Amino acid sequence: MKIPISKPYFGEEERRALMQPLETGWVVQGPQVAEFESRFANYTNLPNPIATTSCTTALHLALIALDIGPGDEVLVPAFTWVATANVVEMQGARPVFVDIELDTFNIDLFKIESCITSRTKAIIPVSLFGISAPMKPIIELAKSYNLKVVEDDACAVGAKYQERHAGALADIACFSFHPRKAITTGEGGMVTTSSELMTDRIRSLRDHGASKSDLVRHLGNRSYLLPEFNQVGYNYRMTDLQGAIGVVQLERLPWILEQRRRIAKKYDEALRGHPYLRPPVVPPDCQHGYQAYVTMFQPEPPTIANVTRLNIQRNKLMDKLEAADIATRPGTHAVHMLGYYSQKYSLRPEDFPSAYLADQLTLTLPLYPQMTEPEQSYVIDHMTGVERYL
Ligand SMILES: Cc1ncc(COP(=O)(O)O)c(C=O)c1O
Repeated sequence: MKIPISKPYFGEEERRALMQPLETGWVVQGPQVAEFESRFANYTNLPNPIATTSCTTALHLALIALDIGPGDEVLVPAFTWVATANVVEMQGARPVFVDIELDTFNIDLFKIESCITSRTKAIIPVSLFGISAPMKPIIELAKSYNLKVVEDDACAVGAKYQERHAGALADIACFSFHPRKAITTGEGGMVTTSSELMTDRIRSLRDHGASKSDLVRHLGNRSYLLPEFNQVGYNYRMTDLQGAIGVVQLERLPWILEQRRRIAKKYDEALRGHPYLRPPVVPPDCQHGYQAYVTMFQPEPPTIANVTRLNIQRNKLMDKLEAADIATRPGTHAVHMLGYYSQKYSLRPEDFPSAYLADQLTLTLPLYPQMTEPEQSYVIDHMTGVERYL
């Protein structure tokens, strides 16, 4: 039995949906993307969704729209996918890392304030693996320092914070539709913001800086007239092939989330009181989206002093699971320890100890909506006999 770490779910409906753009010939951003955006708004209740080619490009557009540039600092958690920090570098600004809190793996609220300087312009809290960052206090803190908040919700489609969909409190929220996320369009992303000004700017920036989209131009009179280009923009447009798949995936989302939560619950039960693996900790005001089921390998309280030894044990366990055809992964990486960042900013593991511990000791278990009972039992059987591997 071969168990992958994740697997997107597609059916006949996605195949059928793809036929429409193929038959009409409108395969670039057009009516299907517009429909996907509109349905995303309906599902999430988030305002003004703007589809992009990825969450990375969504985050990039967010920072451009906020005029983040050289000389500015942006706070980012030290444990996240590298894109969160890369978009800050792309703007010539400086990502300032903030350590995380090990229960949720999200930015440590109590470490944010000491990182704020006169150059800080924005914070990018990440709702990692489907658990929202503590947005309410982050927004309050940001307001008191006049900072903007861009929520990296790459993993948070379907996640809720205080009864609202993730992203509702931020100035701008960005989502991903990469195949390892709850729903996928191959690659793909979405920006949402309640600011009409920012919406117009981001819509234009994703489309070369054009004053109106191809769809608006084609639906109106005198479609031969080209738009104005009053700012430098990008081609970050999602295609209609992706939009068509997105529409169907959104219809599936309630079912997908139900399956993800059911499978996660079974892992929770199996890992309760486990000697080595700590299951995810979900704060009471969050509804986990289970983009990933990330455990912490901790046969003893992890510290910078014992982390190398524990990491060897964790990897031994992952080797054994791989030999049994069960795929596992670390949660994500400590960005301050990636070559580019550690060298450019002379960073050491102990500068952000919790991020480093999470980097070395997290272990993600396979989770996908179509995972069968026998598949999950096979994984659980191997996890519960974990002592014999160490
Ligand atoms: C936290 C986080 N931010 C950003 C991204 C980038 O998303 P995308 O692959 O859609 O560019 C990812 C992707 O895994 C992510 O996990």
